[in-house]
Amino acid sequence: MADRPEPLRLGSIAPNFKAETTKGPIDFHEFIGDNWVVLFSHPEDFTPVCTTELGAFAKLEPEFAKRGCKLIGLSANTIDSHGDWIKDINEISGSNLQFPIIGDKNRQVALLYDMIDHQDATNVDSKGIAFTIRSVFIIDPKKTIRTILSYPASTGRNTAEVLRIVDSLQTGDKHKVTTPINWVPGDDVIVHPSVKTEQAKEIWPDMKIVKPYLRVTPLPKDKTTAA
Ligand code: BEZ
Repeated sequence: MADRPEPLRLGSIAPNFKAETTKGPIDFHEFIGDNWVVLFSHPEDFTPVCTTELGAFAKLEPEFAKRGCKLIGLSANTIDSHGDWIKDINEISGSNLQFPIIGDKNRQVALLYDMIDHQDATNVDSKGIAFTIRSVFIIDPKKTIRTILSYPASTGRNTAEVLRIVDSLQTGDKHKVTTPINWVPGDDVIVHPSVKTEQAKEIWPDMKIVKPYLRVTPLPKDKTTAA
């Protein structure tokens, strides 16, 4: 039996690749540099859900940039197709899409990142070859994959949620805390279970012990986000 490639998991180093994009050729690791990166795929250019998604990502790009986070899209279409489609996206969404979109016609990156579903007969090109699904990879400046999301072609993503995950990861890294269900910046955070309560009280004087394993604290105002 043929060897299966090592699956990409949270904590894996994002595999490097070279690709053509709407902003010119890139080496992915050079593109990451010292930034956070959201690499996300869509099934196909000039399709309705994808058009709404790319417009929404373009509108939120300044917020990602404030967090030191670059966006890069991908589909198995050509960069010429992407270029034509971007005009429609901007017209429909009132956006000014600036981030690069990878033209992955031969599915080199899609296969490397497993952005293809098991079997979706509604999501194939005219030759029956699978298009990409709606994948999201959030990658940190050490090039470690911190989040993987997969959505079916039928379901548009939530850009605010992708931004919220970046906020949670950056806040957690900076303050050694975790974030509860539906957390948004400004809400109380959770003291990591590895921090002993005596030490936690010194760091977080307003900490509340709900249960010995659930200790919550506000972050001081200037610490509510990682920026
Ligand atoms: C869409 O973006 O609307 C779409 C793309 C591929 C398959 C299904 C829906």
